[in-house]
Amino acid sequence: MRVAQILSFGTFVASSAALPYVVHEERHVRTELRWSKTRQLDSSSVIPVRIGLKQQNLEHGDRWLMEVSDPASERYGKHWTAQEVKDAFKPSHETVKTVHDWLHNAGIHSSRHKLSEGLNWLEFDASVREAESLFRTTYHFFEHGLSATKHVACDNYSLPAHVTPHVDFVTPGVHFDSKTKPDTDLYLDANGSKIEKRRVMGPSSPWAGEICNVSFVTPQCLRLLYDVPAALPAVEGNSLGIVEYAPESYLESDLDLFFKTYDPAAVGERPIFDAIDGGYLYDNITNVTAFNYLGEPSLDLQYAMSLVYPQKVVLYQVGDLAESNLTSFNNFLDAIDASYCTYDGGDNSTEDAVYPDPYPGPGSYQGNQNCGTYAAAKVISTSYSYPNEQDLGAAYMARQCHEYMKLGLTGTTFAYSSGDYGVTDEGYCIAANGSYTDGSSGRFSASFPGNCPYVLSVGATQIRNGTYDVDAAIKAGEEVEVVMELTLTPEGSIGYDFPSGADPRGQIIFSSGGGFSDVFAMPSYQASAVTSYLDKYAPDYPGQYNNSGKARGYPDISANGAWFSIAVFGELSQVFGTSASTPTVASILTLLNGERIRAGKSTLGFVNPTLYAHPEIFNDITAGGNPGCGTYGFDAVAGWDPVTGLGTPNYPKMLELFLNLP
Ligand SMILES: *[C@@H]1O[C@H](CO)[C@@H](O)[C@H](O)[C@H]1NC(C)=O
Ligand SMILES: *[C@@H]1O[C@H](CO)[C@@H](O)[C@H](O)[C@H]1NC(C)=O
Ligand SMILES: *[C@@H]1O[C@H](CO)[C@@H](O)[C@H](O)[C@H]1NC(C)=O
Ligand SMILES: *[C@@H]1O[C@H](CO)[C@@H](O)[C@H](O)[C@H]1NC(C)=O
Ligand SMILES: *[C@@H]1O[C@H](CO)[C@@H](O)[C@H](O)[C@H]1NC(C)=O
Ligand SMILES: *[C@@H]1O[C@H](CO)[C@@H](O)[C@H](O)[C@H]1NC(C)=O
Ligand SMILES: *[C@@H]1O[C@H](CO)[C@@H](O)[C@H](O)[C@H]1NC(C)=O
Ligand SMILES: *[C@@H]1O[C@H](CO)[C@@H](O)[C@H](O)[C@H]1NC(C)=O
Ligand SMILES: *[C@@H]1O[C@H](CO)[C@@H](O)[C@H](O)[C@H]1NC(C)=O
Ligand SMILES: *[C@@H]1O[C@H](CO)[C@@H](O)[C@H](O)[C@H]1NC(C)=O
Repeated sequence: MRVAQILSFGTFVASSAALPYVVHEERHVRTELRWSKTRQLDSSSVIPVRIGLKQQNLEHGDRWLMEVSDPASERYGKHWTAQEVKDAFKPSHETVKTVHDWLHNAGIHSSRHKLSEGLNWLEFDASVREAESLFRTTYHFFEHGLSATKHVACDNYSLPAHVTPHVDFVTPGVHFDSKTKPDTDLYLDANGSKIEKRRVMGPSSPWAGEICNVSFVTPQCLRLLYDVPAALPAVEGNSLGIVEYAPESYLESDLDLFFKTYDPAAVGERPIFDAIDGGYLYDNITNVTAFNYLGEPSLDLQYAMSLVYPQKVVLYQVGDLAESNLTSFNNFLDAIDASYCTYDGGDNSTEDAVYPDPYPGPGSYQGNQNCGTYAAAKVISTSYSYPNEQDLGAAYMARQCHEYMKLGLTGTTFAYSSGDYGVTDEGYCIAANGSYTDGSSGRFSASFPGNCPYVLSVGATQIRNGTYDVDAAIKAGEEVEVVMELTLTPEGSIGYDFPSGADPRGQIIFSSGGGFSDVFAMPSYQASAVTSYLDKYAPDYPGQYNNSGKARGYPDISANGAWFSIAVFGELSQVFGTSASTPTVASILTLLNGERIRAGKSTLGFVNPTLYAHPEIFNDITAGGNPGCGTYGFDAVAGWDPVTGLGTPNYPKMLELFLNLP
C-alpha cells in the first residue's frame, strides 16, 4: 500500500474515548513464514480507510438463491434483476447513520466521508494516528516472503460496541489480500520427460498424432471424454466470460497457432476484449513475453474458444501492468456490478489496486476505476485462486462470497479452480502454533473462493495410466479418469500412478485441490452428499481438517486438467492444473445454456443445487487422492469426495436433465 506523507488532518478529537469498545476482528493464524511484520507506520502518514457496512437481508439471501436455483422449487430459473438485488441488500438507513454519526463525533467530519454508489462502503482518508485511535490498534507493514508484496495490516482492531453490529470489516485491517494466483503451475516441454515449474522449453514440433491419450489432451479429446458436440450454433443472449488478471495476458499469434493445429475453423477468432481498469494485451503495450505471463490466458482462451466455437468468448482482462501486484477479484467484481464498487474515481488504496494508477510509466492506466461498466457473462470462468483462506479474514471473504450469491440471483454461474496442491497451501501446512510447517505435518489449508458455497469449485482429473485407447475404454464403460495427481522428483521427472505406486507422503505433489473450509459452513444443497462421504470415508487425521460435518466441502465437480496441449509464445507445450479443468467445465455449462436459451428457458445461474440433486449426470471418479501435510489427503471414492467432487461431466445426461427442467 502507498502511504502519502502529507499533512495530517488537523487535531484529532478523541471524543469516542469514553465509549465501550469491543474487538471486532483479530487474526488467529500467525504468518511468520509467509508474511513478516516489518516497521510500524508513521503516525502522520495518511491512509485510506474503508468501512464495509453491514448489508440488509443477507440472512435471507441463501433462501432466495435456493428458490431460483433448486430444481424442485416453483421459482426455479426466475432470476432477479440487478436493481432488485441492489434494493434487497443495501445497508439500512440506521446502519449508515450509526457509523456516520460515530465518525463525525470522533472528529472525522462528515465532509471527509464518502458513501459508495452501492451505499455499502464508507470511505475517508485519515492519518495513521487518527485511524489507530479510532480502531484501538497499531498498523505495521507486512511483507510477503516469496513475492515481496507489502501490505499494511494490524493484528486486531476494535469498534465501539454500538457500532459493531453495523460493520462487516475495516480496511486496513487484519487480512492480507495479495494478488491472486493462476492455477497452472506445471509446464512440460516437447520431450515429454522434463517438467519445470512455470516454464516451458524447447522448440515446438508440428503436431501430427493422436488427439487423446494418457499424456496428451486436446479440445477434441475433451469432447470425446465428455461426449460434447462440436460447433453447436451460437445463441443470442448466451455468453462465456474468461477472467485474466495482470500481468497475465495473451498473444493473438498463439491463438492462431493453436486453432491452426487443433481447430482450423476458428483461425482468426478473437475474444471480445473487455478491458477493466487498464486491462491490456501484450501485443501492443509491452514486450513481456515470458511464459509465466502468457501461460494461463493462452490455456483458458484456447480451450474455451475452441469448445464453444462459434459462440463468442468475452475476455475480462483486469488491471494494468504497473499495479499488477495488487489486482484482485474485487477489481473484477466492481466492473460487472456497480452495487459492489468500492471507490468511485481514484483514491489511495491498499487491498485492491486503485485507478487512475498512481504509478507513472508504460502500462499505467490513467482512466477511472471501472464500476459496473460491463455486463456479467452468463458463465464466468476464473482459473486463479488464493491458496489459503487463513490469510484473508472471515469478514473479507464473506463479503465477496455474498457478492457471488447476489450475482447468482441474477442468473450468473461462477466457476473457480480449486487449486493445484491438494490439501496444502502450495506445499505448506498450518502449524499447531498458528504458523506454517514445511508441509510434512500440520493442518490442511482450504483455498478461496472455492471455499465459498456460492461458487462452483472445479477440481482436476487425468486419463488413467494404462488406458491405451480412450475411445474404446469409454465405449466399454470403463472408468477412464483418475484424480490429477503427479509427483515431481528432484530430477524433474513425473509419475502419476498413485495410489498403486510409491508412498506419496512427503513428496512434492501436484494434485486436485480439495477439502473442508474452517470458515464457511456446509450449504444445504451439499449436506446429504458430504455427510454421506464423512460417514463412510472420513479419514482419521486428528486435528488436521474440519471433520465437524458442518463445514463447506469442495470441489463440487471436476474435469480433466492434465497434459493439455497449448500454444504459447509460438510453441506447442503442455500444461497441468485446475486451471485447465475450470474453463473446460465453464465451456460445457455455456453449451448447455445455449440449448436452454434456444428452448426458451433461463440460464443455469447458480448451478450447484441442481448438480448435487442429480449426481447421475457425472462420471464418478473413484481412484487417486490429494496427499499432503504428511498424509494421504483425501481419496476419490464412490459419490462425492473432496478431491473430484461429484465427478466429471457427462454432456448427454446433463443436456437431458437441463432441458427437462423448467
Ligand atoms: C507494486 O509494484 C509497484 C511497481 O512495480 C511497486 O512500486 C510497489 O511497491 C508494489 N506494491 C506492493 C504492495 O508490493
Ligand atoms: C491485539 O494485538 C496487539 C498487538 O499485536 C496485542 O498486544 C494485543 O494483545 C491484541 N489484543 C487482543 C484482544 O487480541
Ligand atoms: C529435450 O531434452 C534435451 C536434454 O535435456 C534438450 O537438450 C533438448 O533441447 C530438449 N528438447 C526439446 C524439444 O525441448
Ligand atoms: C500420445 O499422443 C501424443 C501426440 O499424438 C504422442 O506424441 C504420444 O506418443 C502418445 N502417447 C502415448 C502413450 O500413446
Ligand atoms: C491495444 O489493443 C487493444 C485491443 O485491440 C486496444 O483496445 C488498445 O487501445 C490498444 N492499446 C494501444 C496502446 O494501442
Ligand atoms: C520489442 O522487442 C523487439 C525484439 O526484441 C524489438 O524489435 C521491438 O522494438 C520491441 N518493441 C517495443 C515496443 O519495445
Ligand atoms: C493520494 O496520495 C497522493 C500522493 O501519493 C496525494 O497527492 C493525494 O492527495 C492523495 N489523495 C487523497 C484523496 O488524499
Ligand atoms: C511454530 O511451529 C513451527 C512448526 O512446528 C516452527 O517451525 C516454528 O518455529 C514455530 N514458531 C514459533 C514462533 O514458535
Ligand atoms: C504409466 O505406467 C507405466 C507402466 O506401469 C509406467 O512405466 C509409466 O511410467 C507410467 N507413466 C507415468 C507418466 O507415470
Ligand atoms: C469447522 O466448520 C464449522 C462450520 O463452519 C465451524 O463452525 C468450525 O469452527 C470449524 N472448525 C474449525 C476447527 O475451524
